Amino acid sequence: MDAFLINGGKPLRGEVRIHGSKNASLPLMAAALLTDGPVTLRDVPDLADIRNMTRLLDSLGQSIEPQGEALTITTRDAGKTLAHYDIVRTMRAGICVLGPLLAAHGSAKVSMPGGCAIGDRPVDLHLRGLRALGAEIHLDAGYIVAEAPGGRLRGAHVFLGGPNGSTVLGTANVLSAAVLAAGTTVIESAACEPEVEDLARLLNAMGARVAGAGSPVITVEGVDRLRAAEHTVIPDRIEAGTYVMAAAITNGDVVLHNFPTSTLTAALDRLREIGVTLEAVGASEPAGAAPHGAQSVRVVTPRRLHPVQVVTQPHPGFPTDLQAQIMALLTLADGNAIITEKIFPDRFLHVAELLRMGADITRVGSSAMITGVRELVGAPVMASDLRASAGLVLAGLAARGQTQVNRVYHLDRGYERMELTLQQLGADIERVEV
Ligand code: EPU
Repeated sequence: MDAFLINGGKPLRGEVRIHGSKNASLPLMAAALLTDGPVTLRDVPDLADIRNMTRLLDSLGQSIEPQGEALTITTRDAGKTLAHYDIVRTMRAGICVLGPLLAAHGSAKVSMPGGCAIGDRPVDLHLRGLRALGAEIHLDAGYIVAEAPGGRLRGAHVFLGGPNGSTVLGTANVLSAAVLAAGTTVIESAACEPEVEDLARLLNAMGARVAGAGSPVITVEGVDRLRAAEHTVIPDRIEAGTYVMAAAITNGDVVLHNFPTSTLTAALDRLREIGVTLEAVGASEPAGAAPHGAQSVRVVTPRRLHPVQVVTQPHPGFPTDLQAQIMALLTLADGNAIITEKIFPDRFLHVAELLRMGADITRVGSSAMITGVRELVGAPVMASDLRASAGLVLAGLAARGQTQVNRVYHLDRGYERMELTLQQLGADIERVEV
């Protein structure tokens, strides 16, 4: 199993380009099941989760051809509708083939995703939404077995609100199913995340008629068929936020290219309050080089960090996927900070590991109070999930002495060659086998 060895205390300096978004790419790849024609996706990151989705699509009769950072997905063998447990258990996002399979073939059998370190992750809202479109669904031996009576779903009003807000992949599933349904679908309390908007952009390029994506009400006029399309994936806002915080925690000076400023407003607001300076640099990049308003941004941090209050919320609120990273940063702030987690109330497994590095954190229910300390001290720590691991790497970059972050396979699910990026910025970090 791989681990990272980090000798902390080096300010990061240099330039990095942000990759395409993992969480946008996964439902985009699944949407290719809606057509026989080739779907080409550009700027897909090279990550374990993307490779797992590639395996899943291959098992569903798709051919996936990589060409550099692009993937072209074409139907090789239509009619395969079984998403096997062996693949779905490696990646919860496997659930997002359910909507496309049901819409394209009238039936699907998809393994229920299993447990997850960040908390219970039910799929009841996905199923409620698909049932509203007429699907008959039952569970059988760990599989979701779904059927569209007469082979086609029907447009309907669908409400996707749950106890912790809407659902991102649930919205992607229902949206992808509705594009081929007969009639009009209105999805209310839809997730407003930029990844849902990106999915709608691809679906419309394929000939779908989707309006309102990015807002809580999405309207879909069903069409009879979809066609081939090409699409550039939006930049990864979570990777971008993670590298801003890596620069900040080391008092670094870093320029980030392909930076999705407009999708990170809540996180950037908190960072500015902490004292981090972000300024746009250079002229706009040439047309086509900077999709979706991405910019080049320079991050500079003062020595003293101000403590702030952070509440994770659905987009456009502060993203839960940056909670562990900002917690690492706040361990070194000058006073008391509070983080409240409103999406996954138990997503705090990194707290105990940060305590091992000398942080002062008290957890009460879904909140954590962080009292800033003068320094963190390197220690062996255990990554428990993708973003918790990123928080621990950030802590290691700032800590005195050596930090060993174990189980970095979690990180490899969501950060493309993180150690190489950090080395390029001057960090003392290496991957070792333990
Ligand atoms: N929920 C339900 N019922 C459902 C679905 C969700 O109650 O049927 C609840 C969840 O338990 C949670 C809330 O709704 O409390 C939001 O969960 P959501 O469904 O939005 O999460 P997701 O779509 O499964 C995606 C990202 C996660 C990210 C969340 C929240 C992908 C592949 N995953 O998950 O990303 O944390 O949205 O923004 O897009 C990560 O990248 O590290 C990651 C975990």
